[in-house]
Amino acid sequence: MTGGPGSKKPGRSDLKVRVKTAKKRSASSTRWLQRQLNDPYVARSRSEGYRSRAAYKLIEIDDRLHLLAPGLRVVDLGAAPGGWSQVAAARTGSTDEDPLVVAIDYLGMEPIPGVVILEKDFLDEDAPDALVAALGGNEADLVLSDMAAPTTGHRKTDHLRTTHLFEVAAEFARDVLKPGGTFLAKVFRGGTETALLAELKRDFAKVQHIKPPASRDESPELYVLATGFRGHTQAENDEEDF
Ligand SMILES: C[S@@+](CC[C@H](N)C(=O)[O-])C[C@H]1O[C@@H](n2cnc3c(N)ncnc32)[C@H](O)[C@@H]1O
Repeated sequence: MTGGPGSKKPGRSDLKVRVKTAKKRSASSTRWLQRQLNDPYVARSRSEGYRSRAAYKLIEIDDRLHLLAPGLRVVDLGAAPGGWSQVAAARTGSTDEDPLVVAIDYLGMEPIPGVVILEKDFLDEDAPDALVAALGGNEADLVLSDMAAPTTGHRKTDHLRTTHLFEVAAEFARDVLKPGGTFLAKVFRGGTETALLAELKRDFAKVQHIKPPASRDESPELYVLATGFRGHTQAENDEEDF
């Protein structure tokens, strides 16, 4: 597996595929199908063996900011069908003998070499403990979240649900990351409330927003990258002891 296509969007082919509207296909699924068939990232993921076009979002972010490195421990939240996990396993050098990547999704996923997969809802009360157990009790260097709630079509509801996933992921990251660790998570534009960003800025040395080229311009998604986790404060440790 190669490191990916770099940070440029692949060029659009002149040979655009047009999809005829079929009786049983709605206008929105015709648009979806047409977009898939004409998307150079979809073609590329097929030829390079990635399970999703989403893989290129992580590849582009990592090519620019070098979050992944051999030997790092990674948690991938909302991992199905597995594109990010494939990239994480390849770039950390994870193997089945010494797995460094733990992935969770309530949707089933085909096995990936070097990745421990939990088929589970991340919002379940026991999910954090299950992830820590899968990490062999070790802290993580990097927590990734590409989780998105299934869209309802109601913009505000979709926003709230994905923001909630982001909040719970951020809380989990604070619990499992090593000092110096990194958190990368999807949000919707306008979805990270000021209070939430302020908390992240308190706990991490640097917080920034990123929109990788593979993320469609028309999509409200973007990623929050928080680097340099400051570690647990004495106050938090005292609370845990109590
Ligand atoms: C955009 S996809 C992830 C794509 C993935 N990064 C890849 O490269 O293949 C978002 C995933 O989040 C998962 N998800 C959403 N809410 C979740 C939850 N509460 N617990 C676990 N997974 C969740 C969905 O099932 C979906 O598979």
